[in-house]
Amino acid sequence: MCGIFAISGDSPKAGASVLKGLKKLEYRGYDSWGVCVRESKDGTVFIDKEIGKISTVRRNFPDGCEAIGHSRWATHGGVTKANAHPHQVGKVTLVHNGIFENYITHKKTLKTYKFLSETDTEVIAAMIDNFLHQGSTPDQAIRKAATQIEGRFAILVMVEGISGIYAARRGSPLIVGRGSNQTFVASDIPAFLEQTNVVNYLDDNEMVYVCGKNAQFSDLRTGDPVQKRNIEVPWKIEEAEKGEWSHFMIKEIFEQKETIARVLKQEDEKLLQAMKLLQESNGAYFIACGTAHKAAMAAEYFFADISGRKINVVPASEMPSFERFVNPKTAIIAVSQSGETADVLEILERSKKKGAKIIGLTNVLSSSIARMAHVHLSINAGPEKAVASTKAATAQMALLFLLAFTDVNKINIGRQILWATASSINDMLNPRYESWIRSVAERIVDHPNLFIIGRKSLYPMALESAIKIQEVSYIHAQGFAAGELKHGPIALIEKGTPCIVLGDDQETVSNATELKSRGAKIIGVSATKQDVFDEWLRVPDCNGAQAIASIIPVQILAYHLALLKGLDPDMPRNLAKSVTVK
Ligand code: AGP
Ligand code: GLU
Repeated sequence: MCGIFAISGDSPKAGASVLKGLKKLEYRGYDSWGVCVRESKDGTVFIDKEIGKISTVRRNFPDGCEAIGHSRWATHGGVTKANAHPHQVGKVTLVHNGIFENYITHKKTLKTYKFLSETDTEVIAAMIDNFLHQGSTPDQAIRKAATQIEGRFAILVMVEGISGIYAARRGSPLIVGRGSNQTFVASDIPAFLEQTNVVNYLDDNEMVYVCGKNAQFSDLRTGDPVQKRNIEVPWKIEEAEKGEWSHFMIKEIFEQKETIARVLKQEDEKLLQAMKLLQESNGAYFIACGTAHKAAMAAEYFFADISGRKINVVPASEMPSFERFVNPKTAIIAVSQSGETADVLEILERSKKKGAKIIGLTNVLSSSIARMAHVHLSINAGPEKAVASTKAATAQMALLFLLAFTDVNKINIGRQILWATASSINDMLNPRYESWIRSVAERIVDHPNLFIIGRKSLYPMALESAIKIQEVSYIHAQGFAAGELKHGPIALIEKGTPCIVLGDDQETVSNATELKSRGAKIIGVSATKQDVFDEWLRVPDCNGAQAIASIIPVQILAYHLALLKGLDPDMPRNLAKSVTVK
């Protein structure tokens, strides 16, 4: 997790600019923050760090044209000021995204160092400093340290007395932004998008030394120079900003007015390439985590219904038990908004080595998953900043729905259904709809438990509804397959327990009736109103793509439950947007 950001240029306000850029990366981690400026007056480093969110921080930094910063999601060591980055050891000041798995072994060997934090990161700083003491140049010292690190990392390093900033990565994202008089290095593009949209993507096991407007790329293992292409990213600043909206979450929910239609801009050629890999396989898996996993579960139903293909859906963290079934005839469809989720990446790396074919569905074109896939399909939803995934999930489902139609040579039928779905969602999403859902939220917000049921592709949406409500409102919410209720969970129902019922098919309505007979308050999410519903959130009839529309009112409900509880839905406790650590 975490956001890291560096600037090297000609403006003496690098500290303030790093702070500003880090605020745009805060969605990646918000336990603590820290900024280090190389002071213009004498080249010494000035460090300021604190626990808490960076969004409200105002600071004056000393003048300096180079600065690095960090917004942390703690993995090693509690949320304390001492554990906040940057970490300074001897001549080295460093920020780090990732996990140094074997750090204890190395910490024990660095006997002359007195460690001030409990982090794995400080050990990297000490290792680099130690190599400098032994006579290495900074880039040699970083290379030597990097070869000894097991795990994933992206690091930014400043060395006292040497101008410029060093950056290196293996497994965690790093992107270089090319300004006219300055260079940026960040975990994600929004940090510097106001200044430039011209970027170079750093690949795994690569390093860059930036100084002013120059950037020198090299192989982290050999030191050989690497040539990079300047790439213009099409993102607009407004897409990565909240603008008039109070939170990214609600902005992104409403962006679903357009994002589902945008998925349809997919080139047929790409869909056919992906399909070829799937059709040539003799065993296929969806691998994903969290919300993306629920989107993949919905797609399991789409493929079964539309093309009669069975695709196994396995959460990435559970896949190790099944990896022995992966071989050169296996196709893996990795679904991930960020394209950086460590659990998914690990499975892909191992599966690719075994010869499996990888189809990646991501929102971030430059992501590790996008780049390691044999075929990459973009969900094209624009930057998603709220921790709770909303527009990415519906875009993933729309794209997978289209892929299922591609499987039976009916892309155009898939497109027609999705056009109709996108246009009904466009009509559905309006301020009146939102205020009705808020009023429903007001009537249920005081209940400690909430259950959601659904059948077929609405079953994964029941699970996804639970994630949305849990993560932003902290209400205990649980989703069930509607037919599983009477096999246990129905014992949980008490008088007034709110139950969200996704769908209006006869069997689900009869499950709702069973719940109501035991005192539940029924909130129906469906195209038609049923007598059993106490509240009704209308969604359009989407002709097989019902899962896509049905999750949207629950996203809005979760958002308002969070607001009614006085919580910040964009930055829920204990979470971060991209889980780039295991
Ligand atoms: C979504 O609301 C969650 N915050 C989380 O489950 C997320 O979907 C998961 O971590 C996967 O992320 P990815 O799509 O970037 O791989
Ligand atoms: N492992 C480091 C720490 O706990 C970095 C975590 C991160 O990526 O934010 O501080």
